[in-house]
Amino acid sequence: MYCKKFGELVQGICTTSLKRDGAASRRRVFSWTSVCQRRTLLLNRRAYPAVQLRPVPNHVRACYASQSTVDPDEVKKFQALASKWWDEQGEFAALHSMNDLRVPFIRDNLMSVHGVRHPGKPLAGLRILDMGCGGGLLTEPLGRLGADVLGIDPAANSIGTAELHTFRDPELQGRVTYRACTLEELSQGLEGEGGEVGEGEEESFDAVVASEVVEHLADLDTFALCCGHVLKPGGSLFITTISKTNLSYALAIVAAERVLGIVPSGTHDWDKFITPVDLERLLESNGFSVESIQGMQYNPVSAGWSWTQSTSVNYALHAVKRKEEPPPGHTQTGPAHTGGRDAPPSGHN
Ligand SMILES: C[S@@+](CC[C@H](N)C(=O)[O-])C[C@H]1O[C@@H](n2cnc3c(N)ncnc32)[C@H](O)[C@@H]1O
Repeated sequence: MYCKKFGELVQGICTTSLKRDGAASRRRVFSWTSVCQRRTLLLNRRAYPAVQLRPVPNHVRACYASQSTVDPDEVKKFQALASKWWDEQGEFAALHSMNDLRVPFIRDNLMSVHGVRHPGKPLAGLRILDMGCGGGLLTEPLGRLGADVLGIDPAANSIGTAELHTFRDPELQGRVTYRACTLEELSQGLEGEGGEVGEGEEESFDAVVASEVVEHLADLDTFALCCGHVLKPGGSLFITTISKTNLSYALAIVAAERVLGIVPSGTHDWDKFITPVDLERLLESNGFSVESIQGMQYNPVSAGWSWTQSTSVNYALHAVKRKEEPPPGHTQTGPAHTGGRDAPPSGHN
């Protein structure tokens, strides 16, 4: 597969160089950005020749999933690394430092939607689902901001690590909990690997977070459907993931995995990456409005993350579950409230 991708990569570079030779005669300047933009456009055109987006009203949406989000090989990979989650210099170091961006991104967008009710604990009163929580690297800081957070992950060993770590912090007791299950199991109240059988969590969360998870799932339609099912109307969905471009192949797979060893080799499969355009289409057709998309970049020298305009490799997305539209002929009485929904998310657009 990688040979094929590498071939396409080389072909992309060559095509661009040749075109430039013709158009701009003697200039032989190579630009990764243009290669990636062209490749992304091509992929999008192939995937969606002339698709018109037609939002599916929430009331006709099926509330159960027929497919699974689980790719057993992916879960196995993370099961094997379950003891490494809290090693800040280890395999998950880049996820530790990503908290510098993703925690404020989630906090600020939720504060702009819900307002600050408790200074010092800005997310108090909110219920958040951290889907694919791993060892709880993001679950814990969200709990420290005052939210009630449920972390779920099909890798039971990771959930064990997360529980053990959270147990050490009395501030998080009762506020941060974990369950070894998938989103679809939670959504339907089915039994997870931990043996729990619960009520289906219909419309019970103010926010769902899926950070660095969607690129490990088997089925994104099921993911989007179940997110819509467990979120309250007007609830927020936060995703961080990797785009599907030539540059993401070069940086996230070749450089990060094979050359620099920032993450273990085989962590990512380029075929499972998704461009912001495709992710937005998926979410919009599953009852969400995408509010903001922001590029993120990793600096291997400082081992830190920063925001960038470019979404060609890593990016963060905030979407909101649309509220049910009133039936035709219904006239609204009283003033229309936006509940702050129309306010732009602070600082990240
Ligand atoms: C790269 S880790 C991210 C962990 C955590 N979100 C973080 O950023 O610290 C990907 C996680 O997704 C989990 N995962 C894989 N398939 C999943 C699925 N179908 N449903 C939920 N989580 C899944 C893995 O077990 C792993 O813990």
